[in-house]
Amino acid sequence: MQNIRKNVNLSSLNTFKTGGNARFFCEVESENELIEALKFAKENKLEFFIIGNGSNLLLSDNDFPGIVIKIIIKGKKIEIKDADYSVVSAGAGESFDDLIIFMADNSLSGIENLWNIPGTVGASAVQNIGAYGAETKDFIFLVEGIDANNFEKFSFKNNECRFGYRESIFKKNKNLIITKVSFKLNNVFLPNFSYPSLKEYFSGRKNFDVREIIEAIGKIRREKLPDWKVLGTAGSFFKNPIITEEEYSKLLEKFPDLPRYDAGKDFVKIPLGFVIDKICLLKGFRVGQVGLFEKQSLVIVNYGGADFSEIDNFAKIIEEKVFEKIKVRIEREVENIF
Ligand code: EPU
Repeated sequence: MQNIRKNVNLSSLNTFKTGGNARFFCEVESENELIEALKFAKENKLEFFIIGNGSNLLLSDNDFPGIVIKIIIKGKKIEIKDADYSVVSAGAGESFDDLIIFMADNSLSGIENLWNIPGTVGASAVQNIGAYGAETKDFIFLVEGIDANNFEKFSFKNNECRFGYRESIFKKNKNLIITKVSFKLNNVFLPNFSYPSLKEYFSGRKNFDVREIIEAIGKIRREKLPDWKVLGTAGSFFKNPIITEEEYSKLLEKFPDLPRYDAGKDFVKIPLGFVIDKICLLKGFRVGQVGLFEKQSLVIVNYGGADFSEIDNFAKIIEEKVFEKIKVRIEREVENIF
C-alpha cells in the first residue's frame, strides 16, 4: 500500500487529545483501499484498529504496535424514493452532520434530533448514537462493510445489527468494518418532541420546518454540552444505568427526585448526570486538568494536556463515588483503547 505512514501520533485524531504513536497509520477512501490495508495487517501479523472521527474514544498513551486505519469513505445518495419514505445511503467516513444537511436539502427528515454529534456515519451505527429522543437504530435500513476475517462484503439489515442502548454487533465484533450505511427517512416532516426541552422550545409555534429543529438542537446542545472543537471531551463519558423497577423503588425512598425513563418491562433507565450532580454532589468536580463539565455532569473534560491515565483515574473516582451512593456499577460509553 502506498499511503501507509509510520509512527504517527494519535492525539490529533481523537477529541480527548490523548494517545501515543501508531506504528502504522493510513486513511482509506474506498472499500478496496480498506481491503488492501487489512491485507497489509494480515501479511505483517499486525493488529488493526479502525478510527472514524475519534469522538468516543479514550486512547492510552502507549504506542500501538499495529496499524490504525482511518475510514474516510465519502458519498451520499438517495437510493430509493417511495411514496412516504426515502432511503439515503452515506459513506462511513461522512460526518453525521453532513448527512443531516443532505437530508434537509432533499426535504427529508427523521434524524434531525441527532444534530451536532461529532461522529461519522459509520460510528453512528457502531454506537447506535442517541440524543433528544432519537436513536440511529430507528432509521438504519442497511449496514454494509467488509469482514476482516475473509475480506468479503457483508450487508446487514436493521434486525441483524443487534442494536441496543449504545450497542450493536459492530461494537462487539471488531472484524465487521462498516463502509456504508443506509437510512430510511421520512418524506413528510413529523417532529419528534419526546424530549421536554425541545417541546418547550417550540411551544405555541405552528409553522416550522426541519431546519428550525436543527437550529434548536444546536442551541440546546450549546447550552448544555462543551464544544469538542475547543475542549478535549468525548461527550457523555458514561452510559445512563439501567436498573430494575425494584432497585429504582428503593432508590426513590432515599432520593425522591430521581427521574426515570422506561427501559422495557421491569427496567428503568436513570439519568447518571442527575446522580453525579444532585446525589453525589460532584458538579464541576475537578482533579488537575480533568473535570466534570459544569453544565452536564455526565461529560468529562480534558481542560488541557491531561493524559490517558489522568482521565482514566478520574473516571474511576466517579465510578467509585456513584457506587458508594447508589450501589450501582456504572458502565463507560466511551471506549478505552489499547
Ligand atoms: N441532570 C442533572 N445534572 C447534570 C446533568 C443532568 O441534574 O449535570 C439531570 C437533568 O436535569 C435531567 C436528567 O439529568 O433531568 C437527564 O439529563 P439530560 O437530559 O441532559 O440527558 P442525559 O441523560 O444526561 C442523554 C445522552 C446524551 C444526549 C442527551 C439528550 C447518554 C449517555 N447521554 O444524556 O448523549 O445528548 O441524553 O438527549 O445516553 C452522548 O451520548 O455523548 C450524549 C451527549
